[in-house]
Formats: sequence, C-alpha cells, structure tokens
Amino acid sequence: MKLFSGMRPSGQLHIGNYLGALKNWVELQKKHQCIFSAVDYHAITTPFNPKRIHEAVKNLVLDYLAAGVDPKKSIIIVQSQIPEHTELAWILEAITPVSWLERIPTYKEKLELHPKHRNLGILAYPVLMAADILLYKATLVPVGDDQMPHIEITNDLARRFNQMFGKTFPPVKGVVNEGMGARIMSLTDPTKKMSKTGGEGIALTDSPETIREKIKTAVTDSGREVKFDEKNKPAISNFLTIHHLFSGKTIAELEKKYHNKGYAEFKNDLSEVIIKGLADFQEKRKELEKNPKKVEKILADGAKRAQKIAEQNIKEVKIKMGLL
Ligand code: AMP
Ligand code: TRP
Repeated sequence: MKLFSGMRPSGQLHIGNYLGALKNWVELQKKHQCIFSAVDYHAITTPFNPKRIHEAVKNLVLDYLAAGVDPKKSIIIVQSQIPEHTELAWILEAITPVSWLERIPTYKEKLELHPKHRNLGILAYPVLMAADILLYKATLVPVGDDQMPHIEITNDLARRFNQMFGKTFPPVKGVVNEGMGARIMSLTDPTKKMSKTGGEGIALTDSPETIREKIKTAVTDSGREVKFDEKNKPAISNFLTIHHLFSGKTIAELEKKYHNKGYAEFKNDLSEVIIKGLADFQEKRKELEKNPKKVEKILADGAKRAQKIAEQNIKEVKIKMGLL
C-alpha cells in the first residue's frame, strides 16, 4: 500500500503539525511505502517571499528528518521538482465542478485571512492536493482533521475520472489520529486550531524558556479543576491532549494527579513535558543543520525515485483520455 503526505513550507512547524501528522508519518513509514513532500506549489497560493521560499523548503525537510522520517525507507520530494503534479492537477481541474471547491472550509478560512488574494490557486488548492496523492496512486494519507474535506474531494475526483475514462485511481483513506490530537488548538484562542500564522503555537524549535513563557501566558478556562471537557474547558482539554500525547499518560491519570492542585502546577509540568518531548528532535535538527548538502542530496535522490512512478502514471492517465 502506498502512502503520500505533505506540508507547506510556510513557516516553522508547530506541535500541532507534529502531533497531528508528522509523528504518524514516522510510525507509518515502518509498514508502508511512503512519499513525503514539501508542497511549495501549495505555499505560493498565499502571499510568500521569493527570497525565502527555498530556504523554507530546506527547513521543512530538516524538520521531517529530525522527526525521524528515514530517507532510506521513504521518498522525500519537493513538489515543484516533479512537473507531473501540476500536469495531473490541470487534468483534474478540467473535470472539477467549481461548486465543489467553493464550499470547502479551508477556502473560506484562507480568503478571510487574505481578503485581497482571491486567486484561482486558492480555490484550486484541493485539486492540486488530489493530484499529489493520485499521481502516485497512494491509498493512505496521514493528515490532521482539517484536511479531511480535501481527502473527500480527492475521492470524488478519482471516482469521476474512473467513470469517465476507465478505472485508474484506487480509493484514498485519510489517516487521522484516533481519539486525540487530530486537531491541536491555539494557545491564545482554544476554539481555533493552532496554526503557523501568528504566535499562537509552540514551534518545534522553540527554546525551553520560550515554551515555558508561552504555556504560562496561554489562555486558560475559568474554574480551577483540571478536567477534560472540550465544551466548557477548551483550553484545559487542549493542554491535557498535548500532555497525553507527549507523556503517554492517560487523561484519567492526569485528572487524578492534578485533582485539587489548580492550573499553575499543571501548566508548569506541561511545559516540562513538552520540552522533554521535543529535546530529541531539537538535538537531531541541530546536528542535521551542520550538513546542508545532505538535504540537497536526499531531495535529488527522492526526485529521481518519485519521477519514475509519476511518469508511468501520468502516461496511463493520458492514454486513458486519448491524449497519447
Ligand atoms: P499545514 O501547516 O497546513 O501545511 O499542515 C501540515 C499538516 O499538519 C496537515 O496534515 C495538517 O492537517 C496538520 N495540522 C496543521 N495544524 C494542525 C493542528 N492544529 N492540529 C493537528 N494537525 C494539524
Ligand atoms: N493541504 C495540506 C495542508 O495544508 C498539504 C498537502 C498538499 C497535502 N498536498 C498534500 C497533504 C497531499 C497530504 C497529501 O496541510
């Protein structure tokens, strides 16, 4: 079974990216043939800095490697280096009803964030994502739950293509964290997801002092009981989720441990759990930073391996459509 996933090189990754997706990639690569991508063509659909984007790609790949993505097992690519991604995207766009795209929540969110950026690329974003996945006939896609509407469109497009031109693409399954962590919330507004824009998240590269400060000043709920209750205590529930995912302790254990202790002690301990949880990653990343040529080599090798699969599959698509 083939697995594909990607992230945008659009700023330093945060613990939501890690707990919601990247951590799962590392586990899943043990069992599946994986392709992991830095999706720079997705990143250019919102404002970006041409002087910084290539550096952002390399930083993202460093994050993948430091988190444990193994370039010997998995293929790591930069989306824009494999032209078949955009080729298939165009083909799929030709069979995508615009109405499917207009109702996607991430489209509306992005327009709210960048009101002057009402460009076709933001609207077509999910079609390029579908092309990323279908180009390799991947069937598993580990992502955070905000991406599930895009997975649905991917399946709708695969089905539509198969009906129109003959069976080509297999069904795709989005793999989200079961139970907890599919959506880590913002520290400043726990009703919104943690995101790269703004300072409301904990970056994977944040220093221990920064992490302590961010947790200390993070918004908390009223009351003083540490209790998992997403409706009435969204901030505390988010903290409990993060603690659980880094420490492995169950929510029930944590609730018991902090019973009658108040929020301050819980928050202090949470900072230390996050610092400890990121220590290994940060150490590995510092090591990898010393050898930037290694990243270039991994990407060149990844491009070569991915290109072979991409060429073969786009050829099949074009033959089925009568273009070849
Ligand atoms: P992005 O930062 O939008 O490129 O997201 C990269 C990956 O991280 C995707 O699989 C997202 O679903 C996931 N992700 C982003 N933010 C969060 C979050 N707050 N909680 C869980 N997963 C997330
Ligand atoms: N849309 C995803 C995000 O914003 C990134 C992405 C692009 C992706 N192509 C993909 C994720 C293919 C999984 C599979 O995070």
